[in-house]
Amino acid sequence: MSSGLAELHDRARAVLDPVHYDYYAGGVGEEVVLGENEAAFRRLALLPRVLRGSTARDLAVDLPGARLAVPVLVAPTAFHRLAHPEGERATARAAAAAGTVLVSGMASTVAVDEVVAAARGVDPDAAVWFQLYPQPDEEVTACLVRRAERAGCAALVVTADSPVFGRHRRDAEHGFHDLPPGLAAENMRDLPGGPPGGTRDIEMSPSISWEHLDRLRASTALPVWLKGVLHPADAVLAVGHGVDGIVVSNHGGRQCDLVPAAVEALPAVVDAVAGRVPVLLDGGVRGGGDVAVALALGAAAVGVGRPVLWGLAAAGEAGVARVLELLRDEFDHVLALCGGRGVGDLTRDLVVVRGTGVGGIGTAGAGRAGAGGGSAADGATRPSAAGAGAAGAGAAGADAAGAGAARAGTTGPDAAGPDAAGPDATRAGTTGPDAAGPSAAGPDAAGAGAAGADATRANAAGPGTAEAGGAGVSRAGVGVRCG
Ligand SMILES: Cc1cc2nc3c(=O)[nH]c(=O)nc-3n(C[C@H](O)[C@H](O)[C@H](O)COP(=O)(O)O)c2cc1C
Repeated sequence: MSSGLAELHDRARAVLDPVHYDYYAGGVGEEVVLGENEAAFRRLALLPRVLRGSTARDLAVDLPGARLAVPVLVAPTAFHRLAHPEGERATARAAAAAGTVLVSGMASTVAVDEVVAAARGVDPDAAVWFQLYPQPDEEVTACLVRRAERAGCAALVVTADSPVFGRHRRDAEHGFHDLPPGLAAENMRDLPGGPPGGTRDIEMSPSISWEHLDRLRASTALPVWLKGVLHPADAVLAVGHGVDGIVVSNHGGRQCDLVPAAVEALPAVVDAVAGRVPVLLDGGVRGGGDVAVALALGAAAVGVGRPVLWGLAAAGEAGVARVLELLRDEFDHVLALCGGRGVGDLTRDLVVVRGTGVGGIGTAGAGRAGAGGGSAADGATRPSAAGAGAAGAGAAGADAAGAGAARAGTTGPDAAGPDAAGPDATRAGTTGPDAAGPSAAGPDAAGAGAAGADATRANAAGPGTAEAGGAGVSRAGVGVRCG
């Protein structure tokens, strides 16, 4: 973690109720993934380019649903009023002032219309996105979508990695099951099936499927992002189902403790998507260098979760502003050190795995999509793979993803590793014709579907394992068992 963020983290820990600190800080199970999200970034290094004349740097990126002044947005996290009385209002103001997006959580302690109003109070053009867990009662989902639209949200972020609740040991040990009096998941108030004036439970259900996503997407004109994708085959399916963007995320290590670090899963997803939609990454981003690494691996931007909560707890709106400013400043500094003028100059050949000489990451990718505003500094190189040591990364999701992934992500001539350092690599990294490449085609999609079934088995830990016990649907009636 960068020293500025570490300081805010320390202050947050000092001021927060230890139970609430653990709710924010903790992860699922033995917290393996929680640690790995950060550790995986430490295993990667940047191989800068020099003499590229990068005095004027443009950090902006265009995404479906927003133009970001800096490629860092605020990931959706629950219950900000546990951290500060102003809660999500303060976060929204700070994000708007920084020119970036707050993804406002369904489990927000301030209703979404008030969150958007707070952001627009700072910047009338501020974009707020709304995160939602599709509900088994689709009337409830539809109602939430309408609320987000009416509030003026600019995109929806559908969280797909939560068929059941993650089991958070720290919360169980503290017996933390209820929000304190006066706090509630305000977006869940006055919904169909709920008590008049009261809040409904947030349900997590393994019954949620691609058909739910299709219906949700058909019901709105807003761009729809799918959050919580790790398997490249699911990324291919998501594109096929018409999503506008994908968020590679393991929920900050709060859902399944068996998955790879988020940044390890990123390259294979980027390859599978092949430039058709932008890919975001969240999980373990703790400094501007991490932002640069993620972008070089093909993310269009990154999300930050816990650092924002630490800023909020430490100093409210000013604390969140400080977190976003630190990340912007560090990222700009690293971009300059890498000889970059814009996000488009951060390419996969700039990332190497520590301890492997200059072994690079993974297979040839199609580069990032939707990240307008970037510029190739010297026009000569947009390689997205670095030669020989490519497979050695282990960091590339291919190992975790299995055969279906290889089919989905590496078909076609551009996929070959050894050629990647040569002219082919340059071709692979552009968003030209190759971007619409072979992995979009039917046969791959079919292969992906088969692999997708495996992924479901692996992630769900069995459909009957909901904490509620066998019923297959778990409820957040106790208030804190989500996020
Ligand atoms: C306290 C907490 C609550 C969260 N609540 C949600 C949520 O309600 N919905 C969601 O999609 N993700 C939720 N997340 C996951 C974040 O959106 C994001 O994936 C994660 O925090 C990124 O990892 P980081 O905290 O290492 O930056 C939550 C994360 C934390 C730490």
